[in-house]
Amino acid sequence: MHEFLTMDSEIIEKTEEYVRKKLQGEGTGHDWWHIHRVRNTALQLAKIEDADLFIVELAALLHDIADHKFHDGDEEIGPATARNWLENLGVGESIINRVCTIIRDVSFKGAEVETKMDSIEGKVVQDADRLDALGAIGIARAFAYGGHKGRELYNPEIKPESHATFEAYKKSTGPTLNHFYEKLFLLKDRMNTQAGRKEAEKRHQFMKEFVDQFFSEWGGDFEL
Ligand code: ADP
Ligand code: NI
Repeated sequence: MHEFLTMDSEIIEKTEEYVRKKLQGEGTGHDWWHIHRVRNTALQLAKIEDADLFIVELAALLHDIADHKFHDGDEEIGPATARNWLENLGVGESIINRVCTIIRDVSFKGAEVETKMDSIEGKVVQDADRLDALGAIGIARAFAYGGHKGRELYNPEIKPESHATFEAYKKSTGPTLNHFYEKLFLLKDRMNTQAGRKEAEKRHQFMKEFVDQFFSEWGGDFEL
């Protein structure tokens, strides 16, 4: 049976081409190069964790194919778009289900919302996506996204919020500095794998230094 289906390597190649075309030049930090980095990191973690490389690569490639943030908060559009694409390629139902479950569960949904990943494949894709939200790249992406949404860099009159529901998290419109407290600084304690956690701690430290420096400049803390 299997020899009549499209080869795995061909499925990956076609999917890469599809995602690259769709997300190329995107200006909010969810562009093709985000996908490229997440795919590479996810595959590295997958090798350490002995996860299924085909599932991991497909899920990493398709994880932001239609993000709810850019589709009126519709959480089903990502998995549905991925399913449609994989069905057209003739990918088997059980693989599609595994990939689409990961895409549905990968996102952060608020400080007080637990997001669990059942499969090891999901865990490594989620770690890779989270690592790309941290460190120097994470900082760049946060301000790119904030600027796209018309957010202020920082506003001392608006305090960070802790979101108890995904709905509340999705509606938040605070300045980008608040996003560090609402999400980015929480990620290191939510990592799934040991290697992911180790790298997250390094990137976390770098972001802390950035925010400290930001506040010291904001406060006019300098010598003339
Ligand atoms: P996830 O990878 O969990 O789906 P998102 O797609 O919501 O996360 O966010 C990816 C990146 O987009 C974040 O790490 C951050 O850099 C940026 N981002 C998302 N929401 C905001 C926000 N409210 N303010 C600033 N940046 C944001
Ligand atoms: Ni992503």
